[in-house]
Amino acid sequence: MTSSVLPGSTLSTSTLSTSRSTGPVGPVGRAGRAGQATEATRPAGQAALAVALAVRTDLWSHLVEYREESRWTHLLPTADLAPALDPSLHAELAESQVWLLSWLPGQGTPLHDHGASSGAFAVARGALTERVVAGREGRPPHQSTADLAAGRVRFFGPHYVHQVVNTLHQPAVSVHVYSPRLTLMNTYRVGSAGLVRVSTERAGVDW
Ligand SMILES: [Fe+2]
Repeated sequence: MTSSVLPGSTLSTSTLSTSRSTGPVGPVGRAGRAGQATEATRPAGQAALAVALAVRTDLWSHLVEYREESRWTHLLPTADLAPALDPSLHAELAESQVWLLSWLPGQGTPLHDHGASSGAFAVARGALTERVVAGREGRPPHQSTADLAAGRVRFFGPHYVHQVVNTLHQPAVSVHVYSPRLTLMNTYRVGSAGLVRVSTERAGVDW
């Protein structure tokens, strides 16, 4: 295990842009749950929270490590974050799980979903490339790829399937928000008839 801390970067909220993404099951938030925010507002709130945390490098810059062998992940205690955030984000924070990730060049995820969780991630340093695969069983999948520079945020509903990779030559850092908290992830491959589930991973430290 190797680790190092790089200087923090500063983002202006004026540079941040959001992208709403749809997963293989349709519109964001389709699997809404009783007692939670509406389907239309929940992912947007998570995106706002991810952005707010990404720009506050003072909250997490000293924690960042980089690992040669794999992506580095760190669960940020939400109770520690609340005092630094606008009160309008406190309700969202209370229902969310917040992860800080670092990505060395070439590091990335397999194609995966987030179980029943919806979420958002904001690129805080460097850049990441996101590949999204959407498609219903038995139908040809639709794939798209986007390069996400620092300041970009993506948000999505349950069962959204994507792959995120650092394809550039500089380390990257991102902030991820999920609600409800991640308990499992399914990994996939793209077959001739659509997405094929490869495995199911329970909550762990390497994602
Ligand atoms: Fe993901």
